[in-house]
Amino acid sequence: MGAGILENFNKYLPVTERTPKLTLGEGQTPLLYANYLSEALSTHVYLKLEGLNPTGSFKDRGMVMAVAKAKEAGARAIICASTGNTSASAAAYAARAGLQCFVIIPHGYVAIGKLAQAIQYGAKIISIEGNFDKALELVRELGEKYPIEIVNSINPYRLEGQKTAAFEIIEQLGKVPDIVSLPVGNAGNISAYWLGFKDAHKHGISSSLPKMWGFEAEGAAAIVRNEVISDPETFATAIRIGNPASWNLAVQARDESKGSIDEVSDEEIREAYHLLAEKEGVFCEPASAASIAGLLKRSKQGKIPFGASVVAVLTGNGLKDPDAAMNQLSEQLEPINLTEENILRFMQDHGVS
Ligand code: F0G
Repeated sequence: MGAGILENFNKYLPVTERTPKLTLGEGQTPLLYANYLSEALSTHVYLKLEGLNPTGSFKDRGMVMAVAKAKEAGARAIICASTGNTSASAAAYAARAGLQCFVIIPHGYVAIGKLAQAIQYGAKIISIEGNFDKALELVRELGEKYPIEIVNSINPYRLEGQKTAAFEIIEQLGKVPDIVSLPVGNAGNISAYWLGFKDAHKHGISSSLPKMWGFEAEGAAAIVRNEVISDPETFATAIRIGNPASWNLAVQARDESKGSIDEVSDEEIREAYHLLAEKEGVFCEPASAASIAGLLKRSKQGKIPFGASVVAVLTGNGLKDPDAAMNQLSEQLEPINLTEENILRFMQDHGVS
C-alpha cells in the first residue's frame, strides 16, 4: 500500500500523469468489530473509523481528489460551503497544494474543533447569518461568476474520492457487507459509497451489492419527508441541512440497493453517541452517531436480519466537537481536596468497592 487514495486506487479514479500526487495520508482507516453492538443487535456490526483520516473526517478522501484536479486544471483558489468538516479538509489540502481556500459557514453552528482547523490551516473564513443551504447557494453563484473551483460534493471528483471507502470495506471484510449504514446530510457520502460498491462489482472485485441505509436527523429530514426543510434543526450540526445537494443520487442509491433513508431524533443520536464511547471505546462526533442510532431503531423494529453483516460508517472524530461531550456534565468539574480519604470516598460513591 502506498500513501493516500490517489496512489492506492489510481486504477479506479480519474487520475492521469498530470494529476499532482497530492496526499496527507488519507484512507486505509480501520474497520473495527463492535463487540457490544453486535451482541446487542444479534448481528455482526463493524465500525468504519473515518474519523481517523488526516483532518478527522471522511471528507479527506473526496477532498484530495477534488483539490488535485483543481490544481491540475490550473486553479489558484478553491471555495466551499460547510457545516465544518468540508472546510477543515479543504483548508488542509489547499495548504498542501499551495492554493488559496475560502470557506462559507453558518455562523454559530460549526463545532469549535472544525473551526480551529480551518483557521490554523490558513483558510479565509466567511461566516454568514444563514444555514448551510444558504451558504451553498452563495458558493454556487460565486463559482459561476469567478474563476474559483467549488469543492463541495456537487464537484463530481469529491464523490469519486469518497467512493474509495467502499473498496476498502470489501477488502477489510473479505466480502461485501449485507448492510451499510451512514448519516445523511448533504447526501454526497451515501451516493459516493453506492458508486464505489457498484464500481467494485463492475470491475469484478465483488459479486454482490449491499443495502444502503441512510439516516437523516429528524429536524433536517428533507429526503424522508420528500420536501425541502427551510429551517433545519439538530444538535448534530454536521448534518443540519434542509436541501441536500445530492438528493437525487441518494434516492437512487436507496432504491437501486433496496435500502432505505430514515430519520433519527436528537435523543436517539445522543444515546448512540454516548453508547459508542462508553461501550465500544469509540469517540465520534454527534452526526456520525446517527448511523448507529439508525441501527438501534431498526433493530427495535425487528428489521435487521439475524447474523447479518453490517458496516456503520463513523464519519467524524469526536474531538472535533468537544462542546457536545462537555455539555453533558450537569455541574462544573471542581478540584477535589487532595487527601487519600477524600479520593477513596469519591471512588466508593462511584461504585468502586
Ligand atoms: N457526518 C459528518 C461528520 C459530516 O460532516 C457530514 C457532512 C455528514 C456526516 C453527512 O455527509 O453531507 O455527504 O451526506 N458534512 C458536510 C460539511 C456537509 O460541510 O462538512 P453528506
